[in-house]
Amino acid sequence: MERIASLIERFPQTFRFGVATSAYQIEGGIDADGRGASIWEAFAARPGAIERGENADVACDHYHRRDADVALLGHLGVDSYRFSIAWPRVQPLGSGRVNTAGLAFYDQLIDRLLAEGITPFPTLYHWDLPQALQDVGGWTARETADRFADYAALVVDRLGDRVKEWALFNEPYIFVSRGYLLGRYAPGHANLSEFLRAVHTVTRAHALGYRAIKARRPELEVGSVFALAPCEPATESEADQRASQFADAAFNHLFLDPLFTGAYPQRVLDTLPVDEMAIEPGDLESMRTPLDFIGINCYYRLVISAGESMPDLPFIDFGLRHDVRSVGSHADLTDEAFRVHSSFGRNEGARTDMGWEVWPRALQSMLSRLHTLYPGVPLHVCESGCALHDRVDEHGQVSDPERTAYHHAHLLAVAAAIADGADVRSYHAWSLCDNFEWASGYRPRFGLVRVDFETQTRTVKASGEWFRQVCLASRARRGPPVPTTT
Ligand code: BGC
Repeated sequence: MERIASLIERFPQTFRFGVATSAYQIEGGIDADGRGASIWEAFAARPGAIERGENADVACDHYHRRDADVALLGHLGVDSYRFSIAWPRVQPLGSGRVNTAGLAFYDQLIDRLLAEGITPFPTLYHWDLPQALQDVGGWTARETADRFADYAALVVDRLGDRVKEWALFNEPYIFVSRGYLLGRYAPGHANLSEFLRAVHTVTRAHALGYRAIKARRPELEVGSVFALAPCEPATESEADQRASQFADAAFNHLFLDPLFTGAYPQRVLDTLPVDEMAIEPGDLESMRTPLDFIGINCYYRLVISAGESMPDLPFIDFGLRHDVRSVGSHADLTDEAFRVHSSFGRNEGARTDMGWEVWPRALQSMLSRLHTLYPGVPLHVCESGCALHDRVDEHGQVSDPERTAYHHAHLLAVAAAIADGADVRSYHAWSLCDNFEWASGYRPRFGLVRVDFETQTRTVKASGEWFRQVCLASRARRGPPVPTTT
């Protein structure tokens, strides 16, 4: 493996090496200090929703261990920490009353990060909608976009003096498709009309949230984080090629296009019953809100094939081949919409515990593509990582050379995209620590730091030690921070 010193030479001095988490996956403390319920508590309580019936009521107990976890971040020497703010902690009912203690938790988190010399990089929504908003329709209700903008404004009023970059959403396609179309994530619905309405509400929420923040503090940089992946046809056949074009439009363009161009992708418009999105006059024009930066999470390439006998799968099934016949019975769908199957890669790279093929070129190609499509828009790698079944050995160490190799290869992929002209500003390893992996519970371990969920002991894995050396070398190259004068 290339030496760390020569690896970091491939990056500009201002490049930030960081780690990422999300509130629901690490915090626990679900009813501490006035937090309201989120949709994930109700979903996790459904039999069969989460592997082994697990839930995130405690998770990594970060809510009660925040300061020790920030000290751990300091030990790792990261430049940047991407985390999310839990809407139900800040506004227990999703509108109206603010929970002062909830907001104070993030206020103090930010102060402690800054004291460690770490740039706070928050995301406003990483999937934990207040249950009270779900009770009135969740993301299918048009008004939820307005509630989101109110929430964004009140958070930025309190924290915008110390945080320069704000991400609005994490992976809109993933939570909208799995939450409303596939029934795999909260709120666990499988209904095409709901999916289409939610797409439009979340797109409007991007535009309204962006404007609400900019109206208060025009100097802030406001972006969003997208799950993106190259979509390759499984074979050269025309059917597979058409299917992969549709998959690409849905997966990579459905949320980005309306923000940057004011229109949903034509392939999607041609294929799905878009009347059900309930688009109102003026919506498309007002949705056009070119973001200040684009965050990318790219974990795999998708290999797309056209199905044969349908309908028993919704479009873009992500390999989640469970029974979604209720979706398939939708009368208005064209045949094509049911003919798209995807799998997480081919058999060329190794597979992680998620079953995803390790394929660093996917990240490189998506960064280069974003650079071509949206020239001049800064890019941030907001998540990159792999789930591996690692364990603590008799010396208390976790040896995970495959994870180190994964991050090394993905950093090289980022460096290659930079060399090709892409303006990539940061790389965040997913994740700081093992955590609650949504419907898969605690089985997949993505952390640079191992968490023993019985004792809450944290152990820096060998990959975490390697990443620390990368961060420290990068800091050393930059020299001591320039003192700010007031
Ligand atoms: C999400 C994370 C998740 C990770 C690994 C991303 O889709 O933003 O919350 O843990 O991938 O599956």
